[in-house]
Amino acid sequence: MSTSTSSSSPLSVPSPSGADDSAAQALADSSSEASLQRTVARSAQIEAQIETDPGRFRVLTGDRPTGNLHLGHYFGTLANRVVLQRKGVETFLVVADYQVITDRDAVGAIRDRVLSLIADYLSVGLDPERTTIFTHSSVPALNQLMLPFLSLVTDSELRRNPTVKAEFEATGGRPMSGLLLTYPVHQAADILFCKANLVPVGKDQLPHLEQARVVARRFDERYGRVHADRPVFPTPEALLSQATNLLGTDGQKMSKSRGNTIELGMDADTTAKVLRKAVTDSDRHITYDPVRRPEVSNLVLLAALASGREPHEVAQEIGDGGGGALKKVVTEAVNEHFAPIRARRAELAADPAYLLQVLAQGNARASAVAEQTLDEVRQAMQMQYV
Ligand code: TRP
Repeated sequence: MSTSTSSSSPLSVPSPSGADDSAAQALADSSSEASLQRTVARSAQIEAQIETDPGRFRVLTGDRPTGNLHLGHYFGTLANRVVLQRKGVETFLVVADYQVITDRDAVGAIRDRVLSLIADYLSVGLDPERTTIFTHSSVPALNQLMLPFLSLVTDSELRRNPTVKAEFEATGGRPMSGLLLTYPVHQAADILFCKANLVPVGKDQLPHLEQARVVARRFDERYGRVHADRPVFPTPEALLSQATNLLGTDGQKMSKSRGNTIELGMDADTTAKVLRKAVTDSDRHITYDPVRRPEVSNLVLLAALASGREPHEVAQEIGDGGGGALKKVVTEAVNEHFAPIRARRAELAADPAYLLQVLAQGNARASAVAEQTLDEVRQAMQMQYV
């Protein structure tokens, strides 16, 4: 009972050049400044709609289980996920274990990392009764969406994806794997299997979201519908996070390999040690001036975020106290804010059976939703034979 909505030949999308349908154009434009401005404006509108009608949204977001989450993740996305949950927005959280092998040969200590990520999630207040936490490798029907979805994209648009390009360049001369090239399509499956219409993302993930939007629209154009009044997949929108842009303790981009991060699960003493080594400058008068004093301002910002205050106020209070006083303030603020989260995290980490139970429940829920979606996909594609 497929009701194709496209008047053109079903084989015309995507076009051989991959560039002359409107979806391909959107894909090419997705990282332009104008497009970014539109996304920022639209995100503000969505924030307002969440206040009045949280039930119309379903969020999908997630992380690769490659290492422990740090304060950049916390202030950048985790805290916001908890806010969405509190406002009543249904959330699916993918632990993207298959995505670990896009740019490396081995999965590493994957089981430990998955459990550690779930402990991170639960410790900050994500509630497994309200948020479905799942590993995408455990949801067969999600992965099966990859096949029809791959038919909807061209190799040239995948090669042009700025995030894929950046990740490829960062691998230092490794050949591009088929999985690295196509993982935006797999990510589209992560988003679309549960028909999420909202994806909280940072700027770097916008090209992936545009790819998911393109897949959703092209599925409708090429394979048609099950219900005449609506496409099988909604077109998901980005919810661009207010960039807090926390840097590492050396003022550089926060990254585990640089050793400049404070992990969520670090204890108070280790936090103090890391912050004692933080880079400051020679001006004893502390100000908040991210452009001219990135290292000092970053510590001020961290203290402000952890204590729920304004950076300028924090800087003023420290005044002429210099780097020493600044480090003391930021250490206290961080350790105080994270003490209950860390206590809870330690309890959770000591109870892997509970973490596995949370995962089993999330995987079961995600699988039920994915089966339902795959049924509709087969129906739309007229591949339901018995
Ligand atoms: N790519 C994301 C990261 O590296 C993780 C991820 C996988 C994701 N699938 C997703 C994020 C779908 C948002 C939506 O952190």
